[in-house]
Amino acid sequence: MNCDENMNTANIGIIGVGKLGFSLVQGLVKSGYPVSSIHVFDKSKSMLDRAAELGLKICGSLEELVSLSNIIIISVRPNDVEGVARELAKIRVEGKKVVSTAAFVSLRALEELIGTPSVYRAMPNIAAEVNSSFTALSPPNRKDIGIEKIFTYIGVVEWVDEQVLDALTITSSSTPAVVAELMDAFVLASLRAGVPLDVAMRSVAMVFQGIGKLAEQKELWSIRNTVATPGGTTVRLLQKIYEHGVKERLLSALVEAYEEFSKKLSEYREKESKKE
Ligand SMILES: NC(=O)c1ccc[n+]([C@@H]2O[C@H](COP(=O)([O-])OP(=O)(O)OC[C@H]3O[C@@H](n4cnc5c(N)ncnc54)[C@H](OP(=O)(O)O)[C@@H]3O)[C@@H](O)[C@H]2O)c1
Repeated sequence: MNCDENMNTANIGIIGVGKLGFSLVQGLVKSGYPVSSIHVFDKSKSMLDRAAELGLKICGSLEELVSLSNIIIISVRPNDVEGVARELAKIRVEGKKVVSTAAFVSLRALEELIGTPSVYRAMPNIAAEVNSSFTALSPPNRKDIGIEKIFTYIGVVEWVDEQVLDALTITSSSTPAVVAELMDAFVLASLRAGVPLDVAMRSVAMVFQGIGKLAEQKELWSIRNTVATPGGTTVRLLQKIYEHGVKERLLSALVEAYEEFSKKLSEYREKESKKE
């Protein structure tokens, strides 16, 4: 969605403009969100210098960021969230909404630490940079139109229960890394077949992008069956993929990774509840 100049835009404050925070900022700026309404704060000077190049308002302290913002987005690593939340608790955040993009740290812990019930979690991905993130927002029983609008500028939004948002940490937010690896295999295979690198890169990017769009409208089996004609090349390719157990192995890897994450999350939540 593009930001309409005449639209009432919230003042956003982003704490942490590292990999994810900066991709959010880039997406917002590309959508036409006024740079004068985006305020950022980061411990790291190099991250702030990079944000300053986009013309954003760089804050010298958390106090300044909070005073200028209605919606505050915390985008620091999970281990740094507690420190930031405690700082926010010391500053007046009443009447402001706080959104955390951090994995692991629960809504309950954030509410306890910050001392305000206006706390939300968001799980976007780095495709925010090109306004194509899938962002899960929680909790769904306190949907907030202002927060939803911000994340709609950087892609598609879905309100989900917190357990679903946690699961999406692996199955959605970490996915860009896996998809990039898969795409790389296609690029290598294209090179092996003699396709020039630039052509291979563009064709693979467009195939993934195109099928991504088709999959929003059609069932996956229908896409496969449309391409795989009887006795044709595609069905032979699919047979090879099955013979090599590619899909089964990928599924097992994803399930194992999720189970490991889920165990870590339970341990984290247990520690959180002991602190309360
Ligand atoms: N990266 C992703 O694809 C992705 C996707 C979904 C969700 N997330 C979540 O988003 C959060 C940020 O991830 P990231 O990958 O963007 O991490 P990152 O690249 O390390 O960025 C975090 C930034 O916050 C800064 N920071 C740390 N403590 C701070 C403080 N007290 N005040 C101000 N700035 C502070 C860090 O500075 P220093 O480096 O100097 O400490 C760093 O520049 C994480 O909690 C992660 O779970 C990430």
